This record gives sequence, structure tokens and C-alpha cells, in this order.
Amino acid sequence: MSATSTVIHFVLNAEPVSVEVETNETLLEVVRDRYALVGCRESCGQGLCGCCTLIVDGQSVSGCLYPAPFADGAEVMTVEHLDASGTLDPIQEAFIQCGAFQCGFCTSGFILMSRELLDRNPDPSEDEIRNALSGNLCRCGAYPEIIKAVQLAATLRRATLEEVH
Ligand code: FES
Ligand code: FES
Repeated sequence: MSATSTVIHFVLNAEPVSVEVETNETLLEVVRDRYALVGCRESCGQGLCGCCTLIVDGQSVSGCLYPAPFADGAEVMTVEHLDASGTLDPIQEAFIQCGAFQCGFCTSGFILMSRELLDRNPDPSEDEIRNALSGNLCRCGAYPEIIKAVQLAATLRRATLEEVH
């Protein structure tokens, strides 16, 4: 270990991991370069577009700005976790059904941001969806379909919960 590195221990997509990181490394770099979790992407690199969204301890963060050492002890989720069981998450299903993407570059960021929203607010209004996704940019302009997808995802998730109870 060098003077500019440190070992962090955290939970990545439900698996405990330990990794040596440079103190100036970002969490985005760690998940992409060390764990090949490439669903999160770097675009602006300045916290302005949401393409690099990750969930850390239930909160969305810009992976391009989040210092990797800060993840020590945290629970980190990437988009790959959503269908790790082999079944698409209702949010992924809804994005496909609604055609809520064109090139797809922004999609994992929108999906994780939607996940954070629906976890804390299972029945959001259209304004609440727009507000929650306002930090995510889609250069293809798929916004109307994305809003519909989040509304459908909310319906699918509530239906799943009702089946369970
Ligand atoms: S790449 Fe991180 S917010 Fe744009
Ligand atoms: S689908 Fe292309 S940037 Fe959003």
C-alpha cells in the first residue's frame, strides 16, 4: 500500500468486498475498473448529468465525484444488482415496455435514480418524478417516455407488493 492509497471494505451489490484504492480515486472508477460494473458511465465528470449515478446507503450519488475512500463501511448498489436474480426489476421492465431510451447511455442513471425515488415514495406524482429526475440528462430527449416508465414502474412495484401481502 502506498502513501496515497488505502484499503476500504464495503458491500457491493450485496457482496462484502475489500479493495485498495487511491485516495483520489472515485467510486465510479472503482466499480467500473475493479469490478467491471460498467452500467454506470462517466459523461460530464462534474456532477451535472446523472450518467454515473450509484446508490450509497440508499442515497443516490454522483459516482464521478464520490471519493472512493468515503465508501468504506457503506452499502453500494449499481444497476447490475437490479436483475442479479435473473429477473428484470420492475423499473427495468417498465423502461423497456415504455421505450424509455434511444442510445441508452443515460439509462442506468435514470433507472437507479428512479429506484431511489420509488423506495422512498412508492406512489409519486408526475411533478415528484420530474423533480427527482431533474439532475439526470438524456441527450436523446426520451423524457416523456422516461416519466411514463417511472409511473408504470410504480404501478408494477405496488402490484408486486400487494401479491406478497
Ligand atoms: S458523469 Fe457524473 S454527473 Fe455526469
Ligand atoms: S437514451 Fe440516449 S442519452 Fe438518454
